Amino acid sequence: MPFGLSMSLNILAIESSCDETSAAIISDGKIRSNIIATQKIHEQYGGVVPELASRAHLQNIIPVVNAALNQAEIKKTNLDAIGFTQSPGLIGSLLVGTCFAKSLAFALDVPLIAVHHMQAHVMANFIKDPPPAFPFLCLTVSGGHTQIVLCKDYLNMEVIGETLDDAAGEAFDKTAKIIGLPYPGGPLIDKYAKTGNSKRFSFPEPQIPGLNFSFSGLKTAILYFIQDHLKNDPQFVQNNLEDICASVQARIITILMNKLVKASKNTGIKEIAIAGGVSANSGLRQAVKDYSAKYGWNYYIPEFQYCTDNAAMIAITAYYKYLAKDFTDLAVSPSARGLS
Ligand code: KG4
Ligand code: ZN
Repeated sequence: MPFGLSMSLNILAIESSCDETSAAIISDGKIRSNIIATQKIHEQYGGVVPELASRAHLQNIIPVVNAALNQAEIKKTNLDAIGFTQSPGLIGSLLVGTCFAKSLAFALDVPLIAVHHMQAHVMANFIKDPPPAFPFLCLTVSGGHTQIVLCKDYLNMEVIGETLDDAAGEAFDKTAKIIGLPYPGGPLIDKYAKTGNSKRFSFPEPQIPGLNFSFSGLKTAILYFIQDHLKNDPQFVQNNLEDICASVQARIITILMNKLVKASKNTGIKEIAIAGGVSANSGLRQAVKDYSAKYGWNYYIPEFQYCTDNAAMIAITAYYKYLAKDFTDLAVSPSARGLS
């Protein structure tokens, strides 16, 4: 078909909740492009600086959207709807994507679709074939959230367990900070853990009732452990980096997996998915496969590019919302805290 001519249902989706500016095109439920501009500026500050994030979104959004349209070979006038992340996230960052999406939907006179970022992480599992069958459980692990979600239908999800304090991603990032690795530390811990001995050091597993999680005790245990060893050996971290990373990662994974096993036993559900930035972790991905073999689960793991923040997951969610005619008024505003 010639460039710009299209009989498909085309949706442009925008993600700007934190420090990634991303735009994606989905046509008839298939992802055609997914452009992600990661903001490097935050590295030197050891974490995301909200004001710098919103300024970078402002600079990135038009080129990123244009790149997504070009790669999908779609013209703006062929768009049938605009989806965007409405919550949760940094308010200044959300505002950029929201205002852009509202303006474009208004200018093109097409429906606007508000998407919840955490729901979209779960929905990343529908980009791949075969998708999970309902009902399924999704362990959603990101920089801000740790949840076990009972998914009854595309747009019907219930959080049945979540963290009482830090998220799993924060456990990775804060550990990285303690041992002097730059932000975001999760991918680096993953990298060093690959050649480390995960049984070398042992860290406590919190005893939290039900399906909830807690990671703040682990963080404190790691901090004291490192401080104690540094007293006797100033080179302790450098000399044991791989083993420290492997041991910490192994503990975070067993905390997550033990709750997932409990959730599966409680609900009788053996369709198991993972999602969110931490689902890019190679140890967690392997653990899901190993536990699936042991417990007879069918497992679903999104491709790497759809684990960390991306607009393709917003696009697939917007697609199902479009089919359900779940549109948003142009008066919508972003919300830093989502409902769940
Ligand atoms: O989903 P995400 O991109 O953003 C939020 O919605 O928060 O998740 C980011 C989190 C960060 O904490 C980052 O360190 C972690 O995901 N992460 C990882 C890996 N890749 C990203 N953690 C462990 N291993 C990884 N390979
Ligand atoms: Zn996210």
